[in-house]
Amino acid sequence: MSSLSSRLSGQMVLAPLTRGGNLPFRRLCAEFGAEVTLGEMIFARQLLKGDVIERARLRRASNEQVFGVQIATNDVEEGVGAAKLAAAAGADWVDLNCGCPIHEATRRGLGSAMLRQPVRLERLVRGIAAGSPLPVSVKVRLASEGGDVNVREVVGRLRAAGAAAVTIHGRTAEARYSKAADWRLIAECVEDNAEAGGGMPLLGNGDLLTQYEAHGRMAQSGVDGVMVGRGALIKPWIFKEFRDRRAWEPSAAERVAVYRQLACFMKEHFGDDAKGRRKAWYFLPWHFDFLSRYRPLPEEEFGERAAAAPLMQTREETCSKPFSEPSRSLPIGASHADEAAPRAGGHGAARAAPRARRPERAREGGGGALGGEQRCGRGGGAHAAGRGRGARRAGAGRGGGRGARAGRGDRAVQHPIRRRAGERRAQRQEAPPRASAARRAHRGGDRRAARRARGKARADRSAAAP
Ligand SMILES: Cc1cc2nc3c(=O)[nH]c(=O)nc-3n(C[C@H](O)[C@H](O)[C@H](O)COP(=O)(O)O)c2cc1C
Repeated sequence: MSSLSSRLSGQMVLAPLTRGGNLPFRRLCAEFGAEVTLGEMIFARQLLKGDVIERARLRRASNEQVFGVQIATNDVEEGVGAAKLAAAAGADWVDLNCGCPIHEATRRGLGSAMLRQPVRLERLVRGIAAGSPLPVSVKVRLASEGGDVNVREVVGRLRAAGAAAVTIHGRTAEARYSKAADWRLIAECVEDNAEAGGGMPLLGNGDLLTQYEAHGRMAQSGVDGVMVGRGALIKPWIFKEFRDRRAWEPSAAERVAVYRQLACFMKEHFGDDAKGRRKAWYFLPWHFDFLSRYRPLPEEEFGERAAAAPLMQTREETCSKPFSEPSRSLPIGASHADEAAPRAGGHGAARAAPRARRPERAREGGGGALGGEQRCGRGGGAHAAGRGRGARRAGAGRGGGRGARAGRGDRAVQHPIRRRAGERRAQRQEAPPRASAARRAHRGGDRRAARRARGKARADRSAAAP
């Protein structure tokens, strides 16, 4: 426990990111100086049932120095069992997800739903911590969906339960990503923790996009370390910036080299055969969507603004594309089986598993995943999935993914008659004008224009002739 404490101290930790935190991406972050990384969330129950995809997520990249496995469970036995498997796989610690706001998790009493019953949560963590061979940390939000803000009580109870560390994502489950993270409340938790004797490290999380914001928040709130999610997806070199305390503004060529590096890591990890390429292509466009949101934000220009409101939240002014807006261009065809076997670590295709059969697959993150903390991952097209603001903007229905009902604008769910009528209308609009330009000019009485149009049509015909 103490060793985890010293390893987290002063660090910028890579957040657990469903789909995004695949092994090649974590490897890239580690290349850029991330010393502490967390893998994608694993459902403990599935893991214990021998699910190959969940097992694959236990794997760490060779350059990950301190690697944590995040689990979702509300059962002591499951938690202990999962922790033992994580230990056997070589993880350094286990993190319990108590922040995931998506319906698929909360309706099973997982993720942020556990914040509703702090006493029960305390019992759970005490039980897991007692039986786990690894230190157990917990990641929380400020409140469960619809619940009162109770993070101070929760952190106190987690401390009493023997949690090795707590990460506070400074938003309520309800807020998803719509509001700025409340670092003031995080600071209050730090004070409480110090009053209770300290010793249990607290990590602050939310809206860190630049090294100066990260250092600033850390200093103001007094947290032991910070955790970064979207900031790392947008610029994996944020860890280097944090360590060097200065921005790295890569040239276009340098950025391309970073993207290439990620592609190479994917190729190495998934393999260079057709199956491997399919997997890589499942992840890469998703990552590129984030990576393309990078804009240089020099401190001299943006420092003041960042102090007033996080740059991640004022993104419209600093970036043409909102960081939280999910992309609709994700490949959705990958299958659950695709994702399984040879590779490990990533989520990806598994997320495309039919939700009806594997509802628990839906995770937080992404889309909203990106825009909200919907489960980005496993539901294909999960980006646009979920219930967050971004997802609604993108026209996706609740739950998202392939099986989800699409929004009103999506033709796939229109009544067939209406859809065909729409298609005919579109065809009419796209169809070339029935009368030639020459005939129209002739009808309009413009002989010169008609002659010109005839000449042009002749020239076009002869140009098109084989
Ligand atoms: C794509 C994506 C996937 C996420 N997946 C998880 C997850 O599996 N477990 C978890 O605890 N949090 C998850 N989160 C939440 C992040 O870990 C983090 O708490 C949140 O993004 C706030 O940090 P940020 O403002 O630095 O992005 C996810 C977030 C995103 C954007």
